[in-house]
Amino acid sequence: MRILSGIQPSGKLHIGNYFGMMRPALELQEQGEAFLFIADYHALTTVSDPEALRTGVRDVALDFLACGLNPEKTAFYRQSDVPEVTELSWLLSVVTPMGLLERCHSYKDKLAKGLEANHGLFAYPVLMAADILIVQSDVVPVGRDQKQHVEVTRDLAAKFNHAYGTVFKIPEPSIRDDVAVVPGIDGEKMSKSYGNTLEIFGNEGEIKKRVMRIVTDSRTLEEAKVPEECNVFKLFGLLATEAQQQELAEKYRAGGMGYGTAKKAFLELLTDYFRPMREKRAELEQHMDYVEEVLRKGAERARAEARTTLKAARRAIGLE
Ligand code: ADP
Ligand code: TRP
Repeated sequence: MRILSGIQPSGKLHIGNYFGMMRPALELQEQGEAFLFIADYHALTTVSDPEALRTGVRDVALDFLACGLNPEKTAFYRQSDVPEVTELSWLLSVVTPMGLLERCHSYKDKLAKGLEANHGLFAYPVLMAADILIVQSDVVPVGRDQKQHVEVTRDLAAKFNHAYGTVFKIPEPSIRDDVAVVPGIDGEKMSKSYGNTLEIFGNEGEIKKRVMRIVTDSRTLEEAKVPEECNVFKLFGLLATEAQQQELAEKYRAGGMGYGTAKKAFLELLTDYFRPMREKRAELEQHMDYVEEVLRKGAERARAEARTTLKAARRAIGLE
């Protein structure tokens, strides 16, 4: 089974990204032949500062390798190192009905947020279809917000196959429904746009300060507390064992424990959990040539597939 997913280089990794996207993506490398790429062409639709783009790409590469991406198992590459996707994107665009793209929520949401309605933003799902179809993926794991884009991909593949003969596999989306939304320090969904994140590779002093600022209710130290309603407890639950959760839940219900104690317990787990990854990342940063080599090899593997598929598509459509 071939599995493919793409990640946008967007900002500093926070624990919402880690539990919602990165860890599930890394688990996939055990389940089949995995392709994971850094969607830098896609990022151009929202990132307009070249230096920010370079830094963003470098950060995602380091983050994924530090958090356990195994380059022996997974082809890990930069989208723009496989330029065949842009040509395929054009071939797909001639079977793409305007209406299909006009209906895409993500496009409408971006306009509503004030982004300029340019062609890149509009054609975003066609490029995404090319990413997926060019390596003949069977399964595409994505968050719920990307489901529609995978449906567009299926439509385009079917239309192309119907018009020109079968070239593409029809991929299945795999939606991460079981992954809970990680709350931020204010209790809303953790998101860099809300400024409520806990960064994984941020400054440790800063992380500590932010943990201590997690919003709780105003129950006093003596009062009994409700673990299920507490942001600190929810965050603690992401990292703790069942036994650790039960133990802390009992302390909540019994009263006599302040939220500061729960925050310290969470901070300790957080620090321990990510310590090996922080160390690995610091080491990798000293070996950027290795990181580049991983991406180069990943691109080579992806390109071998991409060339084959593109050739078949070019022949089918009459370019060869
Ligand atoms: P942000 O909201 O910080 O801008 P992105 O939209 O760039 O994050 O999300 C990148 C990935 O991380 C997506 O797959 C998204 O589903 C996941 N993700 C982001 N925030 C959370 C969260 N609070 N809980 C679970 N998953 C999240
Ligand atoms: N659009 C995806 C996101 O914002 C990233 C992406 C680009 C992607 N190409 C892809 C995901 C192909 C899966 C498959 O999260």
